[in-house]
Amino acid sequence: MSDPTKKLKAKFAPNHRYANFGPAISSIRICGFRGIADMRIEFEFPVTAFSGLNGAGKSTVGQLAICAYRKPSTGAHYRRYYVKDFFPVSVADPSPFEPNARVEYSYETNQPNAQQTVTVARALKEWSGYKRQPEGYAFYVGFTLYIPKVERRDLSIYRGSSIDLRATRAIPTEVRAKVGSILNQPYDDLVFQGIGHKNREVELGLATRYGSKYSENNMGFGEGRVLYMVDLMETVPEQSLFVLEEPETSLHEDAQFQLTRYLLDVCDRRHHQMILSTHSSVILEALPPEARKLLLRDSSGVIEFPRISATRARSILSKGQKRGLTVCVEDAFAKLVLTEILRRADPALLKAVAIEPIGDKAAVLNGIRLLDHLSINAIGVRDGDSGADAAKKIFKLPGTKSPELEVFETEKVQKHLVETYGVSVEDFLSIHPDFDPHTLPAALAKEINLLQDALSTDAVRVYVGNLDPSEYSDLVAAIKGAA
Ligand SMILES: Nc1ncnc2c1ncn2[C@@H]1O[C@H](COP(=O)(O)OP(=O)(O)OP(=O)(O)O)[C@@H](O)[C@H]1O
Ligand SMILES: [Mg+2]
Repeated sequence: MSDPTKKLKAKFAPNHRYANFGPAISSIRICGFRGIADMRIEFEFPVTAFSGLNGAGKSTVGQLAICAYRKPSTGAHYRRYYVKDFFPVSVADPSPFEPNARVEYSYETNQPNAQQTVTVARALKEWSGYKRQPEGYAFYVGFTLYIPKVERRDLSIYRGSSIDLRATRAIPTEVRAKVGSILNQPYDDLVFQGIGHKNREVELGLATRYGSKYSENNMGFGEGRVLYMVDLMETVPEQSLFVLEEPETSLHEDAQFQLTRYLLDVCDRRHHQMILSTHSSVILEALPPEARKLLLRDSSGVIEFPRISATRARSILSKGQKRGLTVCVEDAFAKLVLTEILRRADPALLKAVAIEPIGDKAAVLNGIRLLDHLSINAIGVRDGDSGADAAKKIFKLPGTKSPELEVFETEKVQKHLVETYGVSVEDFLSIHPDFDPHTLPAALAKEINLLQDALSTDAVRVYVGNLDPSEYSDLVAAIKGAA
């Protein structure tokens, strides 16, 4: 399957963004809400997932984002959200925001790099600024999107014996297929059945599977939630904004992964923008680095660390405390190369450092910023295709290209792979000239039916053994100096 993130990144590039996604939110600046002093968040991808500890401020960002659009003139039955809906003031909650609280929304316009900025601020007792917002549909998928009707004592439950069936609303075949593929459950049929009692009427989801027919009153919670979520995303107008609260709720791990793939797919087809709060490492790992934001709250307020996921942060933090130095690298392959270099050059040093794959170039920078903030000793080592910057504690791997290309284009490595596994990298690259270098080890390993890690480790050993030690002596010295 083609990489859906690559296509979405291209569609969300600044010069194509408005044409594809309309007046999407390009950034949001939050000042004075729930202890967030001043935080600006840049949206770099159609889907943005906020992770962080409980209370970090994830939902606060989503709740303010959902208030970004004026009600469209065509939206007769649509109800928009206002800041007051999420930040009510009462005797129990006298100050959920500061007196001078404000949100600055920046929207895409038909001119790249010329965003429209609208500020919603507290003026006396009211929030002002809404009228200048662009029109748009925004849907909040919170915990109550789907509450089982049995828990709500709905009409279909307490009038079960006397309800009558009314009109049905067909669920398009694509929606049925999407729900089935997220949950890995093939449905023969899915439909919303209108049911009524006197002048009251509600909709009830009905499923047919493995020859049995059942209503949402007998569905699993995850099943019902996915059905309602997918139905909404497929049927509302294109270019809508969605804010999703912990979409992993009640889904098993594979369903969380499939749901994330679905979110990318629907954003590609229908050009929605999505903002998620999540504690799920499965969801975070299924998204590209541009989609991940870590929020960290301390006494000074809330700080954002783009491109890092909470899982990665937790990993670097826990190991960083045990080892004297954390070295942030871009990915697992870079870790293999650096590990092998240190094993050869200074095995004792290898034992004293924690090497952590963190995402990409920008994530390496942000990882060091995060660790510095927490007074944990860290440096970054990026791939050879980006420069070193000793002042920022950034160094680089040998060579000038991505480590995968450095390794697999080395003549000695290629010869070793032909002799050991009968696979020719040269032939492979000539057949697939546009191959993404990061996926090269996986593709080669598949060809020879070998575990990817086994192939990569073997190739990296030959590569590092073939390097002249002068190619990495400065890097090793820098790591030794920091450890
Ligand atoms: N009046 C206030 N002043 C300062 N901070 C506040 C105030 N009200 C709430 N907070 C902070 O905001 C947090 C809640 O923020 P939010 O709901 O955005 O967190 P979250 O990251 O979504 O958490 P969770 O993972 O638990 O859903 C509280 O835990 C508290 O730290
Ligand atoms: Mg929350």
